[in-house]
Amino acid sequence: MLKKMDRIERTAVAVLRKYFRKGNMARCMRDVLPRSHLSQEERDAVAKIVHDVVRYQKYYSYLLRKNNLPYKPENYVALSTGRLKLQADIPQDKLLEIRESLSNSLAHILQEKREFLRIINTEPETTLCTNFIKISREKLKSLLYSEGFDAQDYVPETALLASPGTRYSSAVREGFAHVQDASSQLVAKLTGKLGNIILDYCAGSGGKSLALASLYRNSLEIHAYDINTRKLESLKIRAKRHNATIKVHMSIPTNKYPVVLVDAPCSGVGAASRNPEAKYQENFENFKEMQLKILSESALHVEKGGMLVYVVCSFTPQETVEVVSEFLEKYKHFEVLSIEDIPCEYKKYLKKERYGVFVTAGDILYMAILRFMP
Ligand SMILES: C[S@@+](CC[C@H](N)C(=O)[O-])C[C@H]1O[C@@H](n2cnc3c(N)ncnc32)[C@H](O)[C@@H]1O
Repeated sequence: MLKKMDRIERTAVAVLRKYFRKGNMARCMRDVLPRSHLSQEERDAVAKIVHDVVRYQKYYSYLLRKNNLPYKPENYVALSTGRLKLQADIPQDKLLEIRESLSNSLAHILQEKREFLRIINTEPETTLCTNFIKISREKLKSLLYSEGFDAQDYVPETALLASPGTRYSSAVREGFAHVQDASSQLVAKLTGKLGNIILDYCAGSGGKSLALASLYRNSLEIHAYDINTRKLESLKIRAKRHNATIKVHMSIPTNKYPVVLVDAPCSGVGAASRNPEAKYQENFENFKEMQLKILSESALHVEKGGMLVYVVCSFTPQETVEVVSEFLEKYKHFEVLSIEDIPCEYKKYLKKERYGVFVTAGDILYMAILRFMP
């Protein structure tokens, strides 16, 4: 007989009931948690259970099916918290797909990249990016301590690992830091070494632009563009809060730039630790077409001798190597620049891949630098 559920588990059940009907884990949490009357710590505990269930949903479903138990959210929560212990043999050829809860295509891809399994199946810590324009990392840590938060140095030099609650700290509210995965900060660090004038072509609400401004203390000329003007409006507000000098372009810029960063839309499987739903996608070809199109558009903004930096939060061959390969096939005046030749003290977080690297300090990002031959 299962023990009675506590209110954290009951809230997790409510989130999962919604999620099983509609998908979109993040939205289901946003819908349920504010009305739950739980403290921030309790909400974090709910989020942890929900993440775990979504992360291992395929495995838990398999265990329930083999043990003739219904797919009820209560059963998934009990499996996640260890109150329900079940076993079932998994056929050898389905081991990765079921035990690690992956789509068939992703299981196939990860056969060759098993070192990424641990990264995508681990509950991530919250990472902050220190805004060096306003504060040093040491002072930011003291500020967080004074608010009751613990934080540890990480890489690159802006990064702090902290508890999830820090995202609501006054330090973040007042622009002394923003929440950002360490690999994204490392991509910004490497990109900033390529030149002093940078166009962030898929800037979104400005994660990479802010990291560039923060890391390089406003010494770079940063231009930001995105097809989505609502995101650019939010970028403007964030830049103001951070005292970050970023020129926001509400329509496609007409100039050419020494460095163009293309942080393209992608499947997000490299960030599956934060969004485990990404692990169940089967088709990555449709991303490839869109990425190739955006990369080709952005290439028009690179000046001769300049750099085009292609980044995606993914490790599927379709979205990484195949995009670059097809781009180079079409645009013969671009060549690959070896990222390993860029001086960087964080090389151990870069894993060589064809044309570029995987950045593995947090999420798994693919980065390739293509040079417009002079
Ligand atoms: C991965 S997100 C960028 C995240 C952002 N760089 C950051 O660090 O926060 C990809 C962005 O590409 C934008 N996008 C999609 N198609 C585009 C296009 N054709 N031109 C420019 N931006 C585009 C999307 O609106 C989205 O904000």
